[in-house]
Amino acid sequence: MTSEQLLSLLSETWTSWSELCRVTKTPQAELARALRELQVQGFPVMVEEPGARLAPGTPAPQILLPLLRGKLGRSYRYLGTVPSTQDVLRAWSEAPAGALVLAERQTKGRGRMGRVWESPPGNLYFSLFLGEDVDDLLPLRVGVALVEATQVGYLKWPNDLLAPDGRKLGGILVERVGTRVFLGVGVNVEIAPLPTAAALREFRSVQRATLLADFLWSLESWLSEKRSVVFAAWKKHSITLGRRVVIQTARERIEGLALDLGLNGELLVSTQRGLRRVTTGDVELGAAQDVEDPQIGQGQA
Ligand code: BTN
Repeated sequence: MTSEQLLSLLSETWTSWSELCRVTKTPQAELARALRELQVQGFPVMVEEPGARLAPGTPAPQILLPLLRGKLGRSYRYLGTVPSTQDVLRAWSEAPAGALVLAERQTKGRGRMGRVWESPPGNLYFSLFLGEDVDDLLPLRVGVALVEATQVGYLKWPNDLLAPDGRKLGGILVERVGTRVFLGVGVNVEIAPLPTAAALREFRSVQRATLLADFLWSLESWLSEKRSVVFAAWKKHSITLGRRVVIQTARERIEGLALDLGLNGELLVSTQRGLRRVTTGDVELGAAQDVEDPQIGQGQA
């Protein structure tokens, strides 16, 4: 019996030792060792006197797959500890579009612009293969799906989910290898790994499997939504537009007023030197300001 087989037998309620021994035809001491090994790998397996179970809301296949409503996530690899789910997915050569990799912990989780994504147990870390048929509004589409699924917070351009108090709740990473697109999402569900981060449970009690299923379902519809509808939804959830911003790009620092989104999802910023179209960068938000700028109206209506 492999550890994967043993994991697949567990549910959110206790399975007794006698039942586990009977089904696996394995003595209890050996089972206890195998369960301990699953814990060491990072799986949230609870082992006590009544038997063994998974922590509530664990996104193991037997819990997640019955919650799925669409096509995304049906090919699924559920893992304990990995360096980065992005790399596991990229190495999965036969992955069909919609394939999902999720890990309980990452040792080399990565964020945008070469940053580390702290990945302790209790949160959601997953990567989704989106195939090749993806447009330039993908970060906006994913952001809207994420804020709809979490039901908390705001979107900060380009790829962040912020808590109502401005701390970071989640992040989106889009990586392209040739024409193939790999989407990575991290959401702090139970643990805020940094002082600048928030955990979703501070605002709402939700189980990880439910949250992930809701996100995948929402994303599926946002992926095929009309561009004008995507812009409108993103703006509704935005905390970026109408604020002073300082944007650090790879080459320069841009200061100004975030006016609007451009046709390709870029940020239109009114600066002292005129209107700038920013395609990527790290945004620091400042004070809100009335957007009565002569330069407005040049972006996406
Ligand atoms: C960011 O805000 O900078 C994006 C963070 C993306 C983190 C996720 S966690 C799952 C996937 N695997 C990674 O190594 N990164 C992404």
